[in-house]
Amino acid sequence: MNSLKEVASRVAACTDCPLSKTRTNSVPGEGPVNAEIMFIGEGPGFNEDKQGRPFVGAAGKFLEALLESIGIKREEVFIGNVVKCRPPNNRDPLPLETDACRKYLDKQIELIDPKLIVTLGRYATSRFFPGQTISASRGRLRNVNGLNVYPIYHPAAALHNGGFRRIIEDDFKEIPNLVGPREMTTIERESKDAQQLSMFSEDSDNVR
Ligand code: URA
Ligand code: SF4
Repeated sequence: MNSLKEVASRVAACTDCPLSKTRTNSVPGEGPVNAEIMFIGEGPGFNEDKQGRPFVGAAGKFLEALLESIGIKREEVFIGNVVKCRPPNNRDPLPLETDACRKYLDKQIELIDPKLIVTLGRYATSRFFPGQTISASRGRLRNVNGLNVYPIYHPAAALHNGGFRRIIEDDFKEIPNLVGPREMTTIERESKDAQQLSMFSEDSDNVR
């Protein structure tokens, strides 16, 4: 598996755990290979299974709004899940299923080599910090085997709970600081140069 596309086609043909029998579509995850940030949820839900895309239901809409609040577009980041096929009735994935699926997320992380992995909710967080509660680990950046992992509440849990919602919004605001300054685009750089030039000419007016 040497590309995200190859991972996705392996996932589509995968029968390594029983979830392959009940899925409609596999959901490998999506985003550019040069993404700086990866968001990792638990597993596909009803809508994701229907469409073959991650976070396309209500939780996905909220995730997009959160991204927008920090000036990031969905297309700029990688969005995926711990398991790639929907567990029936949205139950938690079983250890057997997570173990069988592990190779795919591991490969996606290796290929993307992100600056930051944001785990969404208790389940995805436990993959990196086994046995720790989400309330204790959320909002705290830690390094695990060379990966920068930042757990936050799951958007589905925070969507309808005012307290969680405020916390996930606050935790989200920290994300830009955790990935460091973004490189300016050419347009941004040119407009900044133009601003500095006009400031300079104002200064020279003052001197005269
Ligand atoms: N919840 C998840 O954990 N993942 C999805 O893709 C959608 C909802
Ligand atoms: Fe394969 Fe993962 Fe789907 Fe199980 S959940 S069938 S391991 S892709």
